[in-house]
Amino acid sequence: MYGREVEKVLIPKEEIESIVKNLGKQISKDFAGEELIVVCILKGSCIFFSDLVREINLDVRLDFMTISSYGNGTSSSREVKIVKDLSEDIKGKNVLVVEDIIDSGRTIKRLKELLAEREPKCLKIVSMLDKPERREVEVDGDYCGKQIPDEFVIGYGLDYAQNYRNFKDICVLAPAVYQK
Ligand code: IMP
Ligand code: MG
Repeated sequence: MYGREVEKVLIPKEEIESIVKNLGKQISKDFAGEELIVVCILKGSCIFFSDLVREINLDVRLDFMTISSYGNGTSSSREVKIVKDLSEDIKGKNVLVVEDIIDSGRTIKRLKELLAEREPKCLKIVSMLDKPERREVEVDGDYCGKQIPDEFVIGYGLDYAQNYRNFKDICVLAPAVYQK
């Protein structure tokens, strides 16, 4: 079904569907009776976000944010720059940030700090994937779809050099692709 860029399918689309349904159920239960602003972090979480919001049975408002994250090999800091900001004020609101994957944890840690300054009523993170072995800073999502081993994955919104985001399954990238 896929070409040589895929080493193997790690999470088939049927499993993704059931993971997303369960996350939606849990979030709907935890925020029952409340309004929720659901924030898509572009581009990686766009597909997960679209599926997840349809499994959330609450009054939701959708918002979008683009961030760029500059790693610095030697320093332990990472500059997270807001490229496109939210269109709504989140002060006093329940906010759920939707991420594709937590890897070193640096992006989500900094993003949490940035958004917390705006004084939301509640700020939670949901991540489709989590690679706990790779963590460099202490941070966890509040909701996590699935923990995976330290392998580079593509599909379901996740890219390698902006490619493969449209794959329906979450796949392990073949090493040949990044070794060439
Ligand atoms: P962190 O700051 O190291 O946690 O980086 C998280 C970001 O790195 C994610 O939002 C992804 O854009 C990217 N990333 C980390 N691991 C992978 C992967 O296996 N496949 C695709 N993107 C990844
Ligand atoms: Mg990303």
